[in-house]
Amino acid sequence: MNTSSVVLRDRWLRVNFGAGRPAHADFHYLWLRHNCALDLHPTTRERLVDASEIDERIAPTSARIDGDSLVVSWNDAVRRESRYPLAWLRAHAYAAEREEPPRPVTALDALTLDARSLDRVALFRAALEGVERHGVVRVVHFRPSGDPRPEDTEAIIDALSDAGLSVVGTHFGRIEDLRVDNSTNQNTDQLGYTDAAVHLHTDQPFLEAPPTFQALHCIAPAPRGGESFLVDARALAEILRAEDADAYELLRTVPVTFHRKQKSFEKILSAPILGEDGPAGFRVRYSYFTLAPYRVPFAQMERWYRAHRRFAELVRDERHHVRFLLGAGDFVLYDNHRMLHARTSFEGHRWLRGVYFDR
Ligand SMILES: [Fe+2]
Repeated sequence: MNTSSVVLRDRWLRVNFGAGRPAHADFHYLWLRHNCALDLHPTTRERLVDASEIDERIAPTSARIDGDSLVVSWNDAVRRESRYPLAWLRAHAYAAEREEPPRPVTALDALTLDARSLDRVALFRAALEGVERHGVVRVVHFRPSGDPRPEDTEAIIDALSDAGLSVVGTHFGRIEDLRVDNSTNQNTDQLGYTDAAVHLHTDQPFLEAPPTFQALHCIAPAPRGGESFLVDARALAEILRAEDADAYELLRTVPVTFHRKQKSFEKILSAPILGEDGPAGFRVRYSYFTLAPYRVPFAQMERWYRAHRRFAELVRDERHHVRFLLGAGDFVLYDNHRMLHARTSFEGHRWLRGVYFDR
């Protein structure tokens, strides 16, 4: 019995051969299409197509194993079914038994703690373990009555202090009141204090040592919108490294400039987007709204944009996101060196309180 199977990814597919070696092999869509036997002259068997004639974003509309062949249909409106004998794929496997890095964990259940089922010490110990493992933890019902107060933010601070973290003040103050009618913070001229969407970013990338953790405590959710979502940039950097080593290397080595300029604060810092200088050996700096114009050498600029786009595509892919609505009394704690965070736009009154911590 043929137990071969095929798994589709964004730019490549994996053939599981079912028996024998290699057990599996990965093939880029571009490579498969370039090697389609339908593009050989029927009598001379010479190739009729140059690879540059194939759209870079070529991808299957479907792929299946049929007998002892892989059969692929394509998205470029050409009616064709390409057939690749499994023995031929085996013989030409350039990525035999390639290891695929783990995808980010996005199951909300695995990232959620219910404050009603744990005592205070156990809850915060579990929260820090969760952040260590997955980069983020969501705690629901920190105030079971669903009627949280600003003082509850102090209770979170006390508990995290007892667990070994200390509060880091910023140019906004000690605690940020993320609300449209903010009157408590310095430098309120920032997106966070509007009702606009704020797409994925890290906080304070313009500091040499951005704060390690942020807690976002929900006092009042918006009547409409204001969902939170995060993405594990560390896991995605590993996927990028495995799929596009050049892009990864550019993101790790090309410095970009983050320029934060507000009414009474200004800071400029140049650093690569991906670094290994974080406390746990990884640090991402990602902030489209504080990015200064690129100063990359002319001959490198297009490569740079391409590399950045590859990473941004992984980051913005909703399949990689953890998404939830913080209810009154819920909070989220995440690792700001590893996770990007975001919120959707909202209408009406919404009040979150933000606090940064270092170990
Ligand atoms: Fe932020």
